[in-house]
Amino acid sequence: MNKQQLIDEFVNLYGGDKETVRVFASPGRVNLIGEHTDYNGGFVFPAALTMGTTIALRVRNDRVLRMKATDLDGIVEADLNTPEKYKDLFWGNYQVGVAVELEKNGYEISGCDMLYDDTLPHGGGLSSSAAIEVATALALATISNEKKGINKEIDMIEMAKIGQKAENNYIGVNCGIMDQFASAMGKKNHVIFLDCKDLSYKLIPLNITGYKIVISNTNKKRSLADSKYNERRCECEDALSKLNTVIDYDYLGVIPTQVFEQHKNVIGDEIKIKRAEHVVYECDRVLKSIEALENNDILKFGELMNSSHNSLRDLYEVTGIELDTLVDEARKVDGCIGSRMTGAGFGGCTVSIVKDEAVEQFKEIVGKNYTEKIGYAPSFYVSDLGDGGREI
Ligand code: GLA
Repeated sequence: MNKQQLIDEFVNLYGGDKETVRVFASPGRVNLIGEHTDYNGGFVFPAALTMGTTIALRVRNDRVLRMKATDLDGIVEADLNTPEKYKDLFWGNYQVGVAVELEKNGYEISGCDMLYDDTLPHGGGLSSSAAIEVATALALATISNEKKGINKEIDMIEMAKIGQKAENNYIGVNCGIMDQFASAMGKKNHVIFLDCKDLSYKLIPLNITGYKIVISNTNKKRSLADSKYNERRCECEDALSKLNTVIDYDYLGVIPTQVFEQHKNVIGDEIKIKRAEHVVYECDRVLKSIEALENNDILKFGELMNSSHNSLRDLYEVTGIELDTLVDEARKVDGCIGSRMTGAGFGGCTVSIVKDEAVEQFKEIVGKNYTEKIGYAPSFYVSDLGDGGREI
């Protein structure tokens, strides 16, 4: 739906005039490499997509958020005077969490009528939730600043942090900062090389002429993903505290590989050694990926993507039959030079680098073989890399 269509639908739904409707947007992300490293103070390499969330909204005179999604029935109403009541909403809880966190940061939240249009698959591993969080944070913060007469640009890194806190504190998922950061700070045709220990970053133009980034969705319903995610986080924290009885590092993701090899046995638990090993070597792979892309060595980059998936499968154990099948079938296609899961895992999507002329064949072969093995079909997206959150 384009901006005008969304405004028309908004007015059909809520009435009033078109002139008072504002429109904000924020994208989803695909992470090219650096998985489960963000909450370990390591490196990630995500990019914003052109698919995401667009919100049309109009300010109300109370503290009620009235929210509707174009693809869901019914309007959800949340009174911000009693925000705790909405944690278990099927949809709309991320927005309430964002409002709560903005208030903690001194913003004054006005009630709004809101219409959301999502072009990302809900819960499909492309950060549909981060897109909602960042777009909502930007919209509500912009309105707060205007109301208070504050005339300064919104700090998009602050909006990313608000989104992450909403998820950590209100929703109860201890996610890192990668998704919200990519959604807030992405730039068309660029990938973000982000150092999660201090949020320093560099926008790197993606020069892969002759290739496309193909996203394949397992279409698996992701159950238990949140609890498993939190479990991995705890395993990493335990591993680090054991390592720190003999060395001294603030994060697992900053430990050099040789130092890790020297001391890993002090962790004393085979599973936690594997988790930590993934994190340490995955951060190293991100650095090597940047170097490969700088040298226009796309084949090397593809190999690193493959190793990343293998490590997520064997050491971090967050893949599963659906993601592994997509990746295995992708790698068999001529013209696919690298394939890995992207995001939290346990379902969701893979990302593959595929030669332009092989994309159609890729979709056909992977689609057919996956469907035969898993019993239902995957979906494919060949998305461009887009801009981060903004008013449009
Ligand atoms: C999810 C989280 C991110 C990150 C990835 C794994 O997408 O929201 O913070 O941890 O998983 O890399």
